[in-house]
Amino acid sequence: MADIFEKIKANRGPIGMHATASHGYFTFPKLEGDIGPHMNFRGKEKLNWSLNNYLGLANHPEVRKADADAGANYGFAMPMGARMMSGNSNYHEQLERELADFVSKEDAILVNFGYQAMVSAIDCLVDRHDVIVYDAESHACILDGVRLHMGKRYVFKHNDVEDCEKQLIRATKLAEETGGAILVITEGVFGMRGDQGCLKEIVALKKKFNFRLFVDDAHGIGTLGKTGAGTGEEQGVQDDIDVYFGTFAKSFAMIGGFIASDAQVVEYLRYNMRSQIFAKAMPLPLVVGAIKRLELIRNHPEFKDKLWEITNALQSGLKAAGFEIGPTNSCVTPVYMSGSIPESTNLIYDLRENYNVFCSMVVYPVVPKGMIILRLIPTAVHTMEDVQYTIACFSKIVDKLKNGEYMSETIAKV
Ligand SMILES: Cc1ncc(COP(=O)(O)O)c(C=O)c1O
Repeated sequence: MADIFEKIKANRGPIGMHATASHGYFTFPKLEGDIGPHMNFRGKEKLNWSLNNYLGLANHPEVRKADADAGANYGFAMPMGARMMSGNSNYHEQLERELADFVSKEDAILVNFGYQAMVSAIDCLVDRHDVIVYDAESHACILDGVRLHMGKRYVFKHNDVEDCEKQLIRATKLAEETGGAILVITEGVFGMRGDQGCLKEIVALKKKFNFRLFVDDAHGIGTLGKTGAGTGEEQGVQDDIDVYFGTFAKSFAMIGGFIASDAQVVEYLRYNMRSQIFAKAMPLPLVVGAIKRLELIRNHPEFKDKLWEITNALQSGLKAAGFEIGPTNSCVTPVYMSGSIPESTNLIYDLRENYNVFCSMVVYPVVPKGMIILRLIPTAVHTMEDVQYTIACFSKIVDKLKNGEYMSETIAKV
């Protein structure tokens, strides 16, 4: 009989198989110093484009002070227990009310981890008679939520409304047989390519089909819409999003998140969502820290304006320099190149060590073989000089890539 440990030692997984060569450099790198565009990597300062600190709040003095004061005043143990049993507080409820108001919903529920919450909320909202219809390029947290679903699910081609409609026809037929209902799940902004979900078009399908729409707006909240309320606001369909998820891990520069909806739906989640009812409440310093962040997001639209100034300069500059950045219409800025995995690692090594630019790289199996994506995340605390320097460096490394200078049989030694 097989031994689980022997199996996992022999097959370390699609990314884990590269761990020996890449740990600490390509994977699990350590960025040190204050969070911002200039951080240290292996003891040397790098221009950093790899953090979702969109609005620059991570190191904002008011945020740092609020976090420190709340840590000192309450400690991270408080409150003890799950919200339902002993871990509720006025601050938790205040933050929920303010978040609901921010995204124009009746109520909201705080969640400790965005990923876990998406999985758990999907699990909570549907039963085995219901049908899920979801986008093919959904984030892992949606896919894992869908995996828990005991009923049927239909996937539509990424952002393809015609295919979404086809799947809704199938889902409707099935739901009529089972007596179930339909939940459509998509994202506000797809974090890898940066394209917004076609929310407006999906919402228009509500005229023909009976379904509820659940949107994961992890990258949209704080970055899109007139007030920063996200992709629904940006596309003018916030009222038609039935369940809205926002994370604190990106624009809020914290951890946790929330789900907002009609009051009755939120009450249902509060009493049934397993990841919250069977887990300790969010620590008070985080709740108080999130209240401060939300206040700053609402009162300082200039953070978002600056983010977009940098984003627009970066994206238009890259395009003018001949780079392919695909269909992004958010701040996420992927730069598409062609090359093998060894070439991509040599390129990243050169970019980090010789040009001192740090960004994330995405290769097979996340994207098709032969494709390299260098993913840049602009923030409100980057400068125009950072943008210009980076585009100049990218022009140099892509020339080297085209000249075959990064060709090598082996992955760059780190
Ligand atoms: C689209 C999307 N959904 C959910 C998550 C998970 O959120 P969190 O980091 O708050 O767990 C992420 C974060 O990577 C994300 O990009």
